[in-house]
Amino acid sequence: MKIEVLPSAAEVAAQGAALFLAEVRANPAIVAALPTGRTPIAMYQKLAAERTAGSFDLSRATVFNLDEVLLPKASPQTFFQFMTRYVWDPLGVPPGHRFIPDAEAADPEEECRRYEAEIAARGGLELAILGIGADGHIAYNLPHQAGARTHVVTLDPATIATLGGGLEGPLRAITMGVETILSAKRILLLATGGSKAEALRRMRDDDPTAAWPCTLFRDHPEIRVIADRAAAAQL
Ligand code: PGA
Repeated sequence: MKIEVLPSAAEVAAQGAALFLAEVRANPAIVAALPTGRTPIAMYQKLAAERTAGSFDLSRATVFNLDEVLLPKASPQTFFQFMTRYVWDPLGVPPGHRFIPDAEAADPEEECRRYEAEIAARGGLELAILGIGADGHIAYNLPHQAGARTHVVTLDPATIATLGGGLEGPLRAITMGVETILSAKRILLLATGGSKAEALRRMRDDDPTAAWPCTLFRDHPEIRVIADRAAAAQL
């Protein structure tokens, strides 16, 4: 796995944006999986600024969220709200090209199957951009809850707390599975901040283990990790 260490989180965001732009220029009809979370916000803001400057166009691209929490869609913690605010509108992804698991699905298991079918119907993922949790989760493949394909997980209290707003459990989520993500031709993982240092070290060094789901992604042939110095502190 290729790891690039940059001095600051701002540079990780800039590099992530530059790599995404290069992908879109190479294939304007790209099908990409995109993350939510604090880490990618600066990258999305940079991309939004580039779009305002007229330097790229996502009108033919298709984006799939890595995951979604099962809350009413109007809740500020849903990734539907995050994507509306930071990605879909600001980056100009057309309405028919925005995919996210339905947070209000009556049958979440059925929704997982439908979501996998949507990805397959668009020819699969060319690119997956990922974050990493302090506990090593990727998308919501949480410790001991990683699955092969899109599946339902139960969020632990620490993960619920990262969503903010004083949310209390129980709370479930839908996430792409390990194989869903590994099926992407290229993977770009962004990691910033000292809280990610242990997970990044284990991702690189530990034997694959369900306790640290990040270890299940390391052997992808085209995975590139971009970390700031704090996240790379244990490497
Ligand atoms: P964060 O989340 O960017 O908010 O740290 C990362 C993740 O959970 O994948």
